[in-house]
Amino acid sequence: MKITDIELHAVGVPRHTGFVNKHVIVKIHTDEGLTGIGEMSDFSHLPMYAVDLNDLKRTLISILIGKNPFDLMKINQELIDSFPEAMYYYEKGSFIRNGIDNALHDLCAKYLDISVSDLLGGRVKEKIKVCYPIFRHRFMDEVEENIEVVRKRYEQGFDVFRLYVGKNLDADEAFLARVKEEFKSKVKIKSYDFSHLLNWKDASRAIKRLTKYDLGLEMIESPAPRNDFEGLYQLRLKTDYPISEHVWSFKQQEEMIKKDAIDIFNISPIFIGGLTSARKAAYAAEVANKGIVLGTTQELSIGTAAMAHLGCSLTNINHTSDPTGPELYVGDVVKNKITYKDGYLHAPDRNVKGLGVEIDEALLEKYRVPDLSWSNVTVHQLQDRTATTKG
Ligand code: LMR
Ligand code: MG
Repeated sequence: MKITDIELHAVGVPRHTGFVNKHVIVKIHTDEGLTGIGEMSDFSHLPMYAVDLNDLKRTLISILIGKNPFDLMKINQELIDSFPEAMYYYEKGSFIRNGIDNALHDLCAKYLDISVSDLLGGRVKEKIKVCYPIFRHRFMDEVEENIEVVRKRYEQGFDVFRLYVGKNLDADEAFLARVKEEFKSKVKIKSYDFSHLLNWKDASRAIKRLTKYDLGLEMIESPAPRNDFEGLYQLRLKTDYPISEHVWSFKQQEEMIKKDAIDIFNISPIFIGGLTSARKAAYAAEVANKGIVLGTTQELSIGTAAMAHLGCSLTNINHTSDPTGPELYVGDVVKNKITYKDGYLHAPDRNVKGLGVEIDEALLEKYRVPDLSWSNVTVHQLQDRTATTKG
């Protein structure tokens, strides 16, 4: 089987909050008549410049055309040469590599007539426990709005949530108190996510305030600036709660292991550049005797399906995971959207080959945007995933 062509389609899909995220849907064609699909998910993160898709397509053509999609290792190596690792969480090169690696997995599995999880080593489970995100409070009046989100999602079956914190601690506290009062122990808040906004000492003080409301807290996420391994280590010694951090480069993962800086690696294909790399990061975590959680950027269904296949093939996910993208967006680009039941992400039917999701061409047209250019958004809006310009 040889790759003959590649297509990149930019889409802009609004969330229920009004915030619009841009993604790139990938199609890789072959001389066998098979097409693999992938997703470069969520380019709507800092830094605020856009990848030129015509230019990107030229580069990808020069790497991929004529290649055998089963040469995953060789292709990933060449992708790394062109889109090198950076020590930055939202490095766009990782998103690009992820979309291609997804599509190659879809293609190889389709060729073999098996599901992507079978290609990844088979399944250890069929579903992954996930949590619904509560985005960061900036103002007190957002507390009741977020309580309403908890009510609505709890009715739908989500009983675990995670909370982005650190900009308005009074509001963070008020929210936790309200959750405790209204839902008692029916609802868990599994993580406080500081998103690298505070230095470790300020985060330490904030943790003291917020852990008064332990509602099933499993971890404290990103409580120091990016790549502050020493800060994470210091904080880890000061708190009883496990510290988690995303993996965005193998160098960074190595440093976190060497420094013993964290307890749980937050691993997602988008931030480490594909299923191949995410597996490597998960195995490194296992060898280093660290926990893992399946993270997210909030993917559409193609990206989420890839993560479900990966997650169900890993033996060491020992915490509530994060991918709930298909629940956050008002629409999707597939015929069979990924669904959630009782707060679990279910892997696509194992008898369906490939990723198990199929593009709906009409929806691809509906959400199509000309490019990845930015409109007038602020850094705060991007950090807090909010459409409101209040501030
Ligand atoms: C999102 O898009 O909601 C997340 O990627 C936000 C984040 O950076 O954790
Ligand atoms: Mg994101």
